[in-house]
Parts: sequence; structure tokens; C-alpha cells
Amino acid sequence: MIFKSWLSILVLMKWNYCTAIATFPKTVDLSYRDLQREDFFIKIQNQIDMREVNELILRGNKFDSFLDCSTKLDSLRILDLSYNNLKKFFFLCLEESNLVSLNVSHNQIEYINDEALNHRVMKLKILDVSFNDLYVVNDTMLQHMKNLEFLSLASNPIEENIDAYVFQNLTQLKHLDLRNVSSPYFSPSLFEPLSNLEHLDLSLNPIEDVPPLPSGIKVLYIYGTNILHLGSFVMPQLLVLSLDNSANLTSILLNNFENLTQLEILSMRDSPRLSQLRLRPMSSKLLPRLKRLSLQNCALETLNSELLPIIQKTAILDLQSNPWRCDCRMKWINAMNLTTDLVSSFRCQTPLKHRGKLLHEVPSQELECDEPPEGRRGFDAEAVGRIFYPILWVCLALLILGLLATGVVYYSRGCLDQWLMKMRHRGTDTVSYTNVVESTNDLIRILPVGEANDHADV
Ligand SMILES: *[C@@H]1O[C@H](CO)[C@@H](O)[C@H](O)[C@H]1NC(C)=O
Ligand SMILES: *[C@@H]1O[C@H](CO)[C@@H](O)[C@H](O)[C@H]1NC(C)=O
Ligand SMILES: *[C@@H]1O[C@H](CO)[C@@H](O)[C@H](O)[C@H]1NC(C)=O
Ligand SMILES: *[C@@H]1O[C@H](CO)[C@@H](O)[C@H](O)[C@H]1NC(C)=O
Ligand SMILES: *[C@@H]1O[C@H](CO)[C@@H](O)[C@H](O)[C@H]1NC(C)=O
Ligand SMILES: *[C@@H]1O[C@H](CO)[C@@H](O)[C@H](O)[C@H]1NC(C)=O
Ligand SMILES: *[C@@H]1O[C@H](CO)[C@@H](O)[C@H](O)[C@H]1NC(C)=O
Repeated sequence: MIFKSWLSILVLMKWNYCTAIATFPKTVDLSYRDLQREDFFIKIQNQIDMREVNELILRGNKFDSFLDCSTKLDSLRILDLSYNNLKKFFFLCLEESNLVSLNVSHNQIEYINDEALNHRVMKLKILDVSFNDLYVVNDTMLQHMKNLEFLSLASNPIEENIDAYVFQNLTQLKHLDLRNVSSPYFSPSLFEPLSNLEHLDLSLNPIEDVPPLPSGIKVLYIYGTNILHLGSFVMPQLLVLSLDNSANLTSILLNNFENLTQLEILSMRDSPRLSQLRLRPMSSKLLPRLKRLSLQNCALETLNSELLPIIQKTAILDLQSNPWRCDCRMKWINAMNLTTDLVSSFRCQTPLKHRGKLLHEVPSQELECDEPPEGRRGFDAEAVGRIFYPILWVCLALLILGLLATGVVYYSRGCLDQWLMKMRHRGTDTVSYTNVVESTNDLIRILPVGEANDHADV
């Protein structure tokens, strides 16, 4: 009794508050009240006319399932059931629900029954199923969601159990979140139907390749993946690309981004193996709209002077916390007029004598490169070209000459006789060579058996 009256006072107070502040739309906020399903459907419904409620917030309660049949939700547009203990939800009674937004994130849903997202809730535009226990998403689960614009399946243990045609009817979808679904691979046909997609998050999945993506995407997050290398991207409307925390990425060829002509933010920070940033000279301007390039905390040791155009035009460059090698190859950076921020980004890690200094503080003549033999990785190709190959060729030439000389001696001394003999006995293919006669010098002569031609005539 006490509980009930307390609750009703609370609800009524809230109700009055709501009606006072926002007469329309009508919101009922019952979040974090420890409500069980029965408390709501039996008790609270008697105090509030659910038919007029537009927004119902049941966040942080103890609902274990939700079924629309026990209540009248004719005007309901927004339903927040996040942070409950839901295993299932159904919309079975209202023939045509007005529900536009459904949030069931942070529950215990393992699969979405075919009666959950059926034709009755076709008006849904926002659906958040993140942080559940979904282990499969099959082709029929979302087939009625033709008006959906926002979908989050993030942080579910789906793994590879996402069917290739799950999204085939979701042509209105603009925002898709598949972050942290433990998926090692996304089928190429998965994203194909999403012609209106603008925002896609595939982060924190152990993928090694970027799947083919719709070309209209504006924001793409693929951080925290196992991507090995980046091929070319063709997304002419892309504004933001985040590849942060790529554990296996070692090298970036910026030319692969040549068709991202609208890109404003490119971020690859915290990629522990990223040690090479390359740019091949190209005719047209690369990344004409780039405003921010983030590469802090990677494994960059040096920057090639070919990157000059990018460094010069990008307003915000985050390059700090890289193991910079302050040698002759970095002279060009010192010759530039850098902003104070950028100057403090280049703190030398090697060589030892410059460790801890800013590149800018090291006088240009002290930016030296090691001599080729003990040259480091970057150097090797050149060193090999300059020193190793000529030696190799000389050796090869000497070897060939030696062989030729030996051959000439051999033929002139022994084989000539043999060959003549053979010519005489042409037609016989059973000549056996058993007589070995030592010549005057160290060469050995091999002669055919005495009268091999008799033998052959038989
Ligand atoms: C759903 O609810 C969670 C937790 O209350 C919240 O973080 C999330 O932003 C909500 N989703 C949408 C789409 O509003
Ligand atoms: C999808 O999963 C639901 C629920 O597990 C099941 O009823 C339905 O038959 C499945 N559909 C397909 C095409 O596998
Ligand atoms: C989903 O799309 C497919 C192919 O376009 C179509 O055959 C199917 O009827 C659609 N499903 C629904 C429920 O509309
Ligand atoms: C990733 O998803 C799992 C559940 O599959 C969850 O426990 C974990 O907290 C999520 N991690 C992040 C960073 O969201
Ligand atoms: C990529 O990185 C992950 C995590 O660091 C590691 O387990 C995996 O073996 C790496 N894959 C390759 C091909 O290097
Ligand atoms: C960019 O687009 C042009 C023209 O469509 C194409 O020839 C080129 O290969 C593309 N570059 C990349 C890196 O995809
Ligand atoms: C750097 O700035 C100074 C003064 O602001 C200017 O005199 C000099 O020409 C600039 N150098 C370059 C390489 O732009």
C-alpha cells in the first residue's frame, strides 16, 4: 500500500511536471525506478492514460520482456527500454503502431524474433539494439524496416553470423553502427543495398580488409581493426575517415585517397606499426579539402620531402609522439616555417646524440646520415644498388669468363677428338666410353671403346 501510494505520488508529480512543462508532446519518464513489468502494466497504467503518451522512458528498470498488448500505446512515438533485463519484445496488438524510435540497448536480447520487428512497426526510423547478446542477425529480422534511418547493432557478439542480405530492404538507412560485433569479415553484398548510407561505423572488429562500401558515405569509422593495407577508396562525399588504432597497418600510400576529394579529417593515430607515409608525385591536387591529419603516437621515423604539399596546406597536423629520427632526411622540415605546435611535435628519438631534443633545435649540419654500410632500413635499397650490385656483376662476369676459358681448353684438347669419332660412328646410339686416357696435363680424356663401329654394324 505504502509503496503504491508513494509510486503514484511520484508518477503524478512527474506527470504534472511533464504536462506543465511540455504539454505536447507528452512525455512520461519512469527511468531508474526499479520497476518490474507487472508494476508498469498493472499499477501505473491505471494512473496515466497511455493512449496520449508520445514518449515513454522506461530506462534502467527491470523489465524482462515487453508486449504491447497489455497497454494502449496509440500515440507512442518514442520508447526507451534501455538498461533493462529484456530478453524479448513484441509488437502484436496495435495494428499500426506510430512508433518511430525504439531503444532496447543494454539488455539481454539474444535474437530478434520475427514477431518483434514486424509490419506493425514499419514506421520505425530509429532502432538501437546495441549492447545485447545478439549472436545472429538473419535475413528476415529486419525485412520490414523499410523506413529505418538509424540502426545500431554495436557491441553484440554476432561474429560472422550476419547474413549477406540482412540490409536488403533498408534503403532509407543513413546511419549504421556495427562497432565491436566481433566480425572478422563483412560480405561484399552486405552494404550494397544501402544507397542512402551516410555514417558507418565498423570499428573494433578483427577485419583485415575494408569491404566494398556505398559511395555516398560521409563519415566512416574503422578504428581498432586488423586492417593490413588500404586499397583505394572511392567515396567522393567522404568528410571524415578514422583509421585510428590499426594494429597491423604498416604503411600508407596517400595516393590511395586521391578520390576522396571532400575529405576534411583523416585520422590514423595510435597505430603502433605505422612507420611509412608515402606520396607519389601526382598531377592533380591531393586531398584538396583536408583540414586535419592525425598521426600521433604511430611508428613514424621520418617524413619524405614529397609530403611537402600535404604538410604545407593542412591546417591541423598531429604528429607528436612518433620516434623521429633526426638525420639528413629531415632537413627539409627544418627549412620550413612551422607553427609552434608543429615544431614541438618533432622530438628526436634517434640518433642517440639528439635524443630528447626537438628537431628544430638541432643545427642543420648536425642532421647527418650514417654511411651506407651501416645504413638503416630506409637506406638499404640505395646501398644495395650502389655497392652490392656492381660487385655482384663483376663476380658474375669473372665466373662466366672462367667457365668459358675452361670450356675452350676442354674442347680443344679432348672433346674435339671425341666429337670427330662420334661423327664417324654416326647412326649408332650404343657407343660406350670406357677408356680413360690421361692427357699430358691435368685434363682427362674419355675415349670410346676400341672398335665401336663393328658393334654398331651388327
Ligand atoms: C539508447 O539508450 C542508450 C542508453 O540509455 C543511449 O546511450 C543511446 O544513445 C540511446 N540510443 C539512441 C539512438 O538514442
Ligand atoms: C531468422 O531467425 C528467426 C528467429 O531465430 C527465425 O524464426 C527465422 O526462421 C530465421 N530466418 C531465416 C531466413 O533463417
Ligand atoms: C524485402 O525485399 C525483397 C527484395 O527486394 C522483397 O522480395 C521482399 O518482399 C521485401 N520484404 C518485405 C517484408 O517487404
Ligand atoms: C564490446 O562488446 C562486448 C560484448 O560483445 C562488450 O562486453 C564490451 O564491453 C564491448 N566493448 C566496447 C569497447 O564497447
Ligand atoms: C594483426 O594484429 C592482431 C592484434 O594485434 C594480431 O593478433 C594478428 O595476428 C595480426 N595479424 C597479422 C596478419 O599480422
Ligand atoms: C580515382 O578515380 C579515377 C577515375 O575514376 C580512377 O581512374 C582512379 O583509379 C581512382 N584512383 C583510385 C586510387 O582509386
Ligand atoms: C619564414 O618566415 C619568415 C618571416 O616570417 C620569412 O621571412 C621567410 O621567408 C619564411 N620562410 C619560408 C621558407 O617561407
